[in-house]
Amino acid sequence: MSRIAKRISEPVHFGLVLAGISPSLQSDSAAAWVKIQIVSRAQMKASIAIYPGSFDPVTNGHLDLIERGEKMFDILIVAVLQNVGKKPLFSVAERVEMLREVTKQWSGVEVDVFDGLLVDYARRRGAGVILRGIRAVSDYEYELQMALMNRKLEPRLETVFMLPGLTYSYLSSKLVREIAQLGAPLNGLVPPIVEERLKAKVS
Ligand code: PNS
Repeated sequence: MSRIAKRISEPVHFGLVLAGISPSLQSDSAAAWVKIQIVSRAQMKASIAIYPGSFDPVTNGHLDLIERGEKMFDILIVAVLQNVGKKPLFSVAERVEMLREVTKQWSGVEVDVFDGLLVDYARRRGAGVILRGIRAVSDYEYELQMALMNRKLEPRLETVFMLPGLTYSYLSSKLVREIAQLGAPLNGLVPPIVEERLKAKVS
């Protein structure tokens, strides 16, 4: 069984807790009340991390971060946001397909799609960590806001920031899309399969 399948098949535990038993319960006459509270003990594990993003398309900078994250966490879920608001270059299915292809060498990496709140998705997946990359100071403010908002929404969820290799500090999907549309060379910026798809898309 793969590492991912093993983890996901772990049962989610629910505990029944008798939260309060009235003293009157100890007498025969009075109606007793027992408040039964179902406490979800579904855990958000620090060994499971989510690397969320648009990945339109995946770049070598994303891959660098995935490689670093894969070493750090038992399971790294690369989660593509299904954002109906944005007008992406690649469909979600195309982005997922490219991500699966370029991450297939790592058994601990899973590619998935999510919509709605990231914290809800993290709870569903039992993940305790959000992984995000910070390339430069300019990323910091936006990332800080998101991390603090996510913490407000779900205090059990930690955001971990990692730095991609310096070579990728200027790289973004947006710039890659732009230069691809203007016919500039893409070697070194994206994996070969993404380069092919980009060229086909903009030709
Ligand atoms: O690659 P991106 O576009 O910078 O990724 C942004 C992403 C997907 C991480 C962010 O938009 C997100 O988490 N969206 C899900 C909706 C949500 O939870 N919003 C509140 C975040 S504080």
